[in-house]
Amino acid sequence: QEHVRQMQNDIMVQLIPQDESGAVENLADLNVTSNLGRMTHYYFQQGGKMLRPTVSLLMGNACNSAANRSISEEYLAMLSTERSGIAAHLSVCQNQYKIGMIAEMIHTASLVHDDVIDEANTRRGSASVNAVWGNKMSVLVGDFILARATQILCSIGKPNIISVMASIIEDLVLGEFMQMSTTPTDATPVDRMKAYIEKTHRKTASLFASSCRSAAILADGSDLKLHEIAFEYGRNLGIAFQLADDLLDFIATADEMGKPVAADLKLGLATAPVLYACEQYPELNTMLLRKFKHDGDAEKAREIVVNSDGMDKTRRLIDSYSQKAVEMASSLPNRNESTEHLIKLAMSQSDRKF
Ligand code: FPP
Ligand code: MG
Ligand code: MG
Repeated sequence: QEHVRQMQNDIMVQLIPQDESGAVENLADLNVTSNLGRMTHYYFQQGGKMLRPTVSLLMGNACNSAANRSISEEYLAMLSTERSGIAAHLSVCQNQYKIGMIAEMIHTASLVHDDVIDEANTRRGSASVNAVWGNKMSVLVGDFILARATQILCSIGKPNIISVMASIIEDLVLGEFMQMSTTPTDATPVDRMKAYIEKTHRKTASLFASSCRSAAILADGSDLKLHEIAFEYGRNLGIAFQLADDLLDFIATADEMGKPVAADLKLGLATAPVLYACEQYPELNTMLLRKFKHDGDAEKAREIVVNSDGMDKTRRLIDSYSQKAVEMASSLPNRNESTEHLIKLAMSQSDRKF
């Protein structure tokens, strides 16, 4: 937690350095940059959950321990007598820390763009960037945050890490495209669920998976098997996380969520609870095909979904993904405190309240 608070500041400094008076440094035209500065800092200042950096820092730490399992007792004893000591050896290295920053910056950039696409006026209980400054500037600010993230990524100096992290941006775009394309309601329930999970991987889980993989690659002495475990942990955690989010859209109140309830239905989206409910109540398909656009559709659909077995089936699906994430973390050699946190984090997706 200290790491991630510090990180929020570090990110803001990387985005637009400000001197003590709050003025923007290094950028010639203050009239232009004062808005840019305020806009880029806007979401970071609100102190979000910082879940993505937390997961990648924990994974980095767990993998450092896992990869160094072969270190002899003597070597460990020697390290512990040095000032840097075992603690430094097992904690995250600077490049792993950068992965955490980049993950949060890509995430935030995608939210800025997402709020434009979704025409959302609020985010985390406050006005969204686009609500305050308009769509045109918001698109540019999202691009700007991505550009700064790319600079940090290049400073790591490893082409394979750049490639792994770039695949996240590609997935975010593909996931968003998949979500926009109409769901063929005549596809089999299995195929519809498969497409939904694929979309969920790209839109949400890929960011967790690939930043975990990067953190693992950056662990000295790590091998391909470890990279794969880290990726699969992130992928399963990310899917469980998004499924929990999709379920909460039906059960939480607007206050708890910081955004309107049944927001997904109003956007014409069919998430897991809806897809399951369609099997039990095929009449939902008619509304789904018109993206719940007729008067009263969203309310009627919400009522049907909430009282269907789609809710429980979604809960079981969340459990199965978080269980897979737990298995991945548990299989890491030389488990340490970070590994245990990763396990707890995966288990907590089953009863997330917000
Ligand atoms: C939030 O989903 C949005 C995403 C997880 C990804 C959005 C991706 C893009 C807009 C592609 C562009 C990407 C970059 C990197 C600039 P949501 O709308 O379901 O959730 P919400 O309730 O938080 O809005
Ligand atoms: Mg949105
Ligand atoms: Mg969206």
